[in-house]
Amino acid sequence: MKTTNAHPIRVRAGGGNYFVKCERGILRQAGEEIARLGEFSSLHVLTSPKVWRAVEGVVRRGIPARKATQVHAFDDAEAAKNLKTVEEISRRLVRGGADRKSLLIAVGGGVVGDVAGFVAASYLRGVALVQVPTTVVAQVDSAVGGKTGVNLQEGKNLVGAFYPPKLVLVDPAVLASLPEREFRGGLAEVIKYGVIADANLFGYLEENMGNILARDSEALEHVIRRSIQIKAGVVSRDERESGLREILNYGHTFAHALESVTQYRKYQHGEAVAWGMMCAALLGHETVKTPADDVARIIALVRQIGPLPGWPKVPPHRLFEAMRSDKKVKFGKVRFVLSPQLGRARSYDGIKEKTAISILRFGPQLPLGAGDALGKRRG
Ligand SMILES: NC(=O)c1ccc[n+]([C@@H]2O[C@H](COP(=O)([O-])OP(=O)(O)OC[C@H]3O[C@@H](n4cnc5c(N)ncnc54)[C@H](O)[C@@H]3O)[C@@H](O)[C@H]2O)c1
Ligand SMILES: [Zn+2]
Repeated sequence: MKTTNAHPIRVRAGGGNYFVKCERGILRQAGEEIARLGEFSSLHVLTSPKVWRAVEGVVRRGIPARKATQVHAFDDAEAAKNLKTVEEISRRLVRGGADRKSLLIAVGGGVVGDVAGFVAASYLRGVALVQVPTTVVAQVDSAVGGKTGVNLQEGKNLVGAFYPPKLVLVDPAVLASLPEREFRGGLAEVIKYGVIADANLFGYLEENMGNILARDSEALEHVIRRSIQIKAGVVSRDERESGLREILNYGHTFAHALESVTQYRKYQHGEAVAWGMMCAALLGHETVKTPADDVARIIALVRQIGPLPGWPKVPPHRLFEAMRSDKKVKFGKVRFVLSPQLGRARSYDGIKEKTAISILRFGPQLPLGAGDALGKRRG
């Protein structure tokens, strides 16, 4: 059995520091890793039926049944990421005898992690949580940083809490069963880390995207680990998103607009981010002198994870309106994260509306749209 003991990645958080352990096969040692956290009265796995079918074997082998371990599976559709599900899970925990010394283990993608995290933050005013992310997005993004929460009818992630886990166990091997579109979409977030913080990671992605798309385990582990290090570094310096953390939203101002005008049905989130990053690159060129060569490289790399559902048939000004009504807008100013040079980024709020709109007008001409066939499956 391989144990490389790759260095754990430390995350600083107000509510307590924690480690992210990223390594192929780490789940086989989940029992020991959890034992190191202390004594727990009971263990409760929170997951979804679909995820559990895919990963039960490996998780069960890792957590020996010496403790009464209960499994609570709930629907992880985005539409079920709500307070009703939080209530249902909490009630199941009461019935299952979960007390203040219990441990919740979230096994799943971002939906499971966000819901389970919010349950952990609020059940009995807070119980211990371990995150076991099973999608690319969850591994490189949502399981790290302590943001938890659920949606309201009025919008996404409007109720939640910052609640750091005790530990995050990232095993890239569980990605083997991830549907292709989820997998590729998740890679958009990985590219994002390269653009905003690490030109070497970006170069590695350019060289190795073929292997990564084939889910080569070594290449995957490398880029996931590096992405986590970058996210961990950013959130350790700005847990509550008062400044620096905003750079994680590269491409997201555009992406949120594309998602919202299509009622979240057309794009997988990463696909919208992929479009968004191409737009942000072009906007960077227009406003903060992003070199044309960097723009070309960003577009070419994003193309490698495509094809994407086509650009929406919506006038540019409507897309801009969608940006203005995003909840991240402060004092009425639309903010864009731009990268003046590969590997660096910051947030700007002085971008002229007409410049942003000119990019939106150009959107449909960007390479990559696969027509509307792809986008029909969502929803
Ligand atoms: N908290 C944060 O900081 C943060 C950051 C980014 C995204 N998010 C949230 O994350 C959510 C999206 O998460 P996601 O992209 O991981 O998608 P997801 O949780 O919706 O999972 C995608 C699909 O893959 C399935 N799945 C998950 N793991 C699998 C596996 N190993 N094998 C087979 N199928 C598997 C799920 O059942 C689901 O159908 C959104 O709700 C978003 O708001 C939160
Ligand atoms: Zn994202």
